[in-house]
Amino acid sequence: MFSKDGKAKDIATPRICDVVWHNGEFIKWNDARVHVMSHVLHYGSSIFEGIRCYSTKQGPAVFRLREHMQRFLNSAKIYRMDHPWTLDQLCDAVGELVRLSEMDHCYIRPILFRSLDEEHPAFGVNPFPNPLACYIGAWDWGKYLGDEAIERGVDVCVSTWNRLTPNSMPAMAKSGANYMNSQLIKMEALLNGFAEGIALDDRGYVSEGSGENIFLVSGDVVLTPPLSSSILPGITRDSVIQICHELGITVKERTIQRAALYVADELFFSGTAAEITPIRSVDRITVGKGGRGEVTAAIQKAFFEITKGERQPPGDWLTYVNSKKEANPGNNGYTPTTAEGTATEKEPALSYQTAARD
Ligand SMILES: Cc1ncc(COP(=O)(O)O)c(C=O)c1O
Repeated sequence: MFSKDGKAKDIATPRICDVVWHNGEFIKWNDARVHVMSHVLHYGSSIFEGIRCYSTKQGPAVFRLREHMQRFLNSAKIYRMDHPWTLDQLCDAVGELVRLSEMDHCYIRPILFRSLDEEHPAFGVNPFPNPLACYIGAWDWGKYLGDEAIERGVDVCVSTWNRLTPNSMPAMAKSGANYMNSQLIKMEALLNGFAEGIALDDRGYVSEGSGENIFLVSGDVVLTPPLSSSILPGITRDSVIQICHELGITVKERTIQRAALYVADELFFSGTAAEITPIRSVDRITVGKGGRGEVTAAIQKAFFEITKGERQPPGDWLTYVNSKKEANPGNNGYTPTTAEGTATEKEPALSYQTAARD
């Protein structure tokens, strides 16, 4: 699936939704274009989300829609992108887009960026004169790290590239510019024959993959790096933490040394695109027994049962787009959790909102 020279397309894109939500209305996919002198193309000024909609017996269901859209709003706030969209409007737009797409499952990509005012163009780094544009598109995206990866796991390396330092680029914002760092990690991995790279943070502790958070299983304890290791506060990561609580598995946010990856019993990635993907080797050192471990399998099973609508999730995690039922009524969509338990509204999440403890 992955070519040696890293150039092959590693995923199939069989279907694309032929409409795109743009600033409050639906336009044709082919009309969703930008000017080449747009600020975003030159200075990386975009924030975005990646959301999955799953096929269930009750029709398409968007996984943790409000949480994703809350992170979208957080990213916009960090980058002082003063836009008019509310959480409800963005969530409604996604529901409508999925309905119009007529796809029973898809990947959804909201993006907010600095474009170009063609009548009063501005070309400097200063982003403020450039108008904001917001789009949401959707396509059918298969298994991000390959079809077999979910069962058999992937071979990965530790990247020579570090993850972003907290005071250079905020890793907790999902900004387009952060993905230049991800691309360096990913290209290096592919060119060396690995499916993915794991980046260390600027202190040398394990951070995350180019597009996934990472979990380590040691004995009966599951560990994952804290936000202070320059990670994106993953929604799937949060889901794994909550699933562990439900399964009675001890889960902790801890700084993790590179060498701990080699001697772990199990390792796995979590992410919207990668879902729960086992890691079978790091730097050609076999992890555990070299396949999907038991703890990973149990968490993965629960995760997929939840996304298929076959198991009660710990929260209101599925938004059924064809039903009138409101998702997450009343609590603004997100009761954040930490590895230690569910946070109260007064005490924001360590795992999601703030830099976490080690
Ligand atoms: C760098 C990075 N880390 C982690 C994740 C996982 O985040 P989530 O589970 O919200 O998709 C992603 C994917 O969006 C990512 O790009």
